[in-house]
Formats: sequence, C-alpha cells, structure tokens
Amino acid sequence: MSSTSQMRLGAFFNPTGHHVASWRHPRAQADAGINFKHYLEITRTAERGKFDMVFLADNLGVRQAHIEALSRSAQYIANFEPITLLSALATHTTHVGLVATASTSYNEPFHVARKFASLDHLSGGRAGWNLVTSGQENEARNFSREKHYEHGERYDRAREFARVVIGLWDTWEDDAFVRDKDTGQFFHPEKLHNLNHRGEHFSVLGALNIPRCPQGRPVIVQAGGSEDMIGVAAEFAEVIFCAPLTLEAAQRFYADIKGRLAQYGRAPDEMKIMPGLSAVIGRTDAEAQENYQHLNSLIHPVVAREILSMVLGNVDLTPYPFDGPLPDTLPRSNASQSIFQQVTEMARRENLTIRQVATRVAGARAKAVIYGSPQTIADVMEEWFRKDGCDGFNIMPPFLPGGLDDFVDLVIPELQRRGLFRTEYEGKTLRENLGLKRPASRYARTAPTASQSPLPRAASAGG
Ligand SMILES: Cc1cc2nc3c(=O)[nH]c(=O)nc-3n(C[C@H](O)[C@H](O)[C@H](O)COP(=O)(O)O)c2cc1C
Repeated sequence: MSSTSQMRLGAFFNPTGHHVASWRHPRAQADAGINFKHYLEITRTAERGKFDMVFLADNLGVRQAHIEALSRSAQYIANFEPITLLSALATHTTHVGLVATASTSYNEPFHVARKFASLDHLSGGRAGWNLVTSGQENEARNFSREKHYEHGERYDRAREFARVVIGLWDTWEDDAFVRDKDTGQFFHPEKLHNLNHRGEHFSVLGALNIPRCPQGRPVIVQAGGSEDMIGVAAEFAEVIFCAPLTLEAAQRFYADIKGRLAQYGRAPDEMKIMPGLSAVIGRTDAEAQENYQHLNSLIHPVVAREILSMVLGNVDLTPYPFDGPLPDTLPRSNASQSIFQQVTEMARRENLTIRQVATRVAGARAKAVIYGSPQTIADVMEEWFRKDGCDGFNIMPPFLPGGLDDFVDLVIPELQRRGLFRTEYEGKTLRENLGLKRPASRYARTAPTASQSPLPRAASAGG
C-alpha cells in the first residue's frame, strides 16, 4: 500500500472495451478504434472520475488468428496510433495523465524520446511511456525481420534503449532556453549536453531537438511480469501494469519488485504497482452477474473456440462439433500445463460441451474479472490495496463507453466515501498526481565552464 493511503487509478482503454465481445454490446461504440469523439468522451469521463491516467496499449500490426475468428473480433485490428491520438486528446483535457505504449524492439530511442517529450510539452506535463518489448512474431515481420528478438536479447536492448531515452531527455537543462530578443541569445550554450552514446545496440549523438519537458522526464511505465522484465522495471519503471490473478500472487509480486528497487538507489514509493482489474458492475450483485452473462452470451462460438484452442496450446478444435464434449485425448503442447489441466478437468467434471467451456474461458481470458455491486467491487479493491497487493489499479472496462460510465458513477463515489480515492486532483502533472518526484537533470548541478564551446562535445550520458 502506498504511503499516501490513497489509490492510484488508470483507465486502460481497449477501443471497444476489454471483453472479447465488447464491440457487440449495446452500450459499446463499435467503430471506437477510429472514432475520435468516442475517445474524447471516455477520456473526459476518466478525468471527471479523477483518474490518474488513461492508458493505450499497442501492437504493431494486425494480430494473428484464424481468419474466421479474427473477422469476428475487434481487438487490435483497426485503431489509431496511440501517441497521435493522445496528442489530440491532450488539447481537450487538463489533468488526466496520457500514457501510450511504444516498443523498444521496433523503434529507435531518439524517436521515442522525442515523441514523448513532445506529448509532455503539448499536455503540460501529463505524458507517460509504457515501455514494451513486443511479443508477437507477426510484429517482427512488419519491421524487416523474419523472427522476433529472443527474450533475453529484447530485454538487453530494452535496458540500453531506456538509458538512451532518459539520457536524451536530460540533454537540455531546464533553463537552457532564454530566447532573449534584446541580446540575441536563444539558449545558453553551456546548458546543452550531447549524449554521445555508443553502446551494443545503439549509437546516438544527441542532443534531443526539443527542450527538457515539464515533468523533467515523462513517467516510465512497464507492463508485464516476466523475470527479464522485472529486472528492467526495477531500474527504470515508475508504474507497473501487471496481471496477477489472486491477492497472494499480487502480494508476492509487489514484495519482490519493491524489494529490488534499493539495488538501484530507489525507494519503494518511487514505483506504483497497478494490477489490471476488469469489473462488471451492476446495482446489485445479482444484476452484475446478469450483466456478465449477457456479455458472455455475445461471444461468437467461433471466437470462443479460437480462444479455447489458444489456451489449450493451439489445439485444432475445428473437427469437433460445438455441442459435443472436448475429445478425451488432446495433444499437449508447450503451453501452460496447469491451465490445460484446469480447463480439461472443469469440462469433464461439469460435463460441458465445447461451446460451453469455450464461452467460459473466452469470457475471462485468463484475466481477473470480478462482477458485483459497487460495494462488492470496492471491497475487493480495498482488500488488495490495504494488504500490500498493489498501489492502485489499472481499470479495464469490459465495454466502452458504458462500462467506464458505470465505474465512474457507481464505484468511484464508493471509493471516495471510504477515503481510498481523491475527490480533487492534487497537482497538474501526472507525476504530481501519482506522487512521484520530478527528476533533476543529471547536469542540473554542473557549473558552467568557460571551456565549453557553443557546439558542445559534452560528457557521455549513455551506458
Ligand atoms: C496490462 C498489460 C498491458 C500490456 N500492454 C502491452 C502492449 O500494449 N503492447 C505489447 O506489445 N505488450 C503489452 N503487454 C505485454 C507485456 O509487455 C509483456 O510482453 C508480456 O507480459 C509478456 O512478458 P514477457 O515479454 O516479459 O515474457 C502488456 C502486458 C500487460 C500485463
């Protein structure tokens, strides 16, 4: 639990929502991915609810699935590029943080540093970068590669990438630009520091061609939970979006990663851990259960079967009838053995047809889904928060805009009543609202020296 004893909240926007059938829901916007008015509405709703930030995930390509199932799904198929979208949203909002995903595998650090610095200026200090390494093979093939980088290699690259980006954000001191019309001095030459980075993966001269940004550095976010990722996160991440399924798993993750921060001279409070939470809300628990069943009833059987097939390790289920049982013998793959066992045992125990088991599995998609009244949902959130499972949550509305309206109108007031969530923003920048310090430039205390030239060579900041 954070020392401030109030939760941090992010609103994680999949365009139509997080439930696999969200786009078919009567209170969802089917063309959400390219509908600016929709994004404006949900971002304003998040700001009305005093969310710390809105968050856009991203994949670099159309995801791969059997075409019959893919053509009935809206997830990661057709949507805006996130930084472009957040830049437009920045001009219509005032307080909510704006976090976009950018991959360290298929970008250059200079691009990422420059774009997020621009977003930070445009938004008055509300930008955040969700650092991902990308996970899908098809993304590699959009970037002139046959195969994705191996796991360890992509995190090595990510580590160096992050160091370069942070170095670039520091290349101008805060007060470098005087723009003095009388003297003709545009900037102080001694306050410009080239990066001169030469590393294993990148070679970057710097400086960045934009002044140091309002937050000093945009907030660095990381999503995921593998061992490699945690190693990188302990060094750089200020917010973690993770997906533990139980309170015990959340507590283990929280203690583990916070315990590693000291190695990098960081205090536990310098990182906010925010598990994803998909909440299906009703005015009562019974109504919430009906709402959840309604959502699941919208899952097309072909989509459900595709998800079940993935969960079981890409087993081909197409030869078997929807209304018959799962076959007794299924080939075992490299996929999670425990999930395979849990699902096949559940199917046999309850005598479920392929259609029934697929719908169940697809409705949850290995995520923590809770359904209930606002009080029930607030109870779960309070327990996780008070028992050191998290510093807040990344709320994943099952459908949009309706699911976010419900959260803001019904659950936020309940959290506020319990003193667990703010009623007004504390600050103007994302850092201020998250309770994160504004980092000083590594050069801030460097006294100007007479020997520095107007085209400085400057110290290497990379590494
Ligand atoms: C909440 C959450 C959001 C994520 N968002 C993205 C994303 O937008 N783009 C992406 O490529 N990966 C995303 N990921 C995947 C992770 O970055 C990571 O690749 C995944 O958890 C697998 O971990 P590993 O690559 O370290 O094995 C997300 C993961 C989580 C838990």
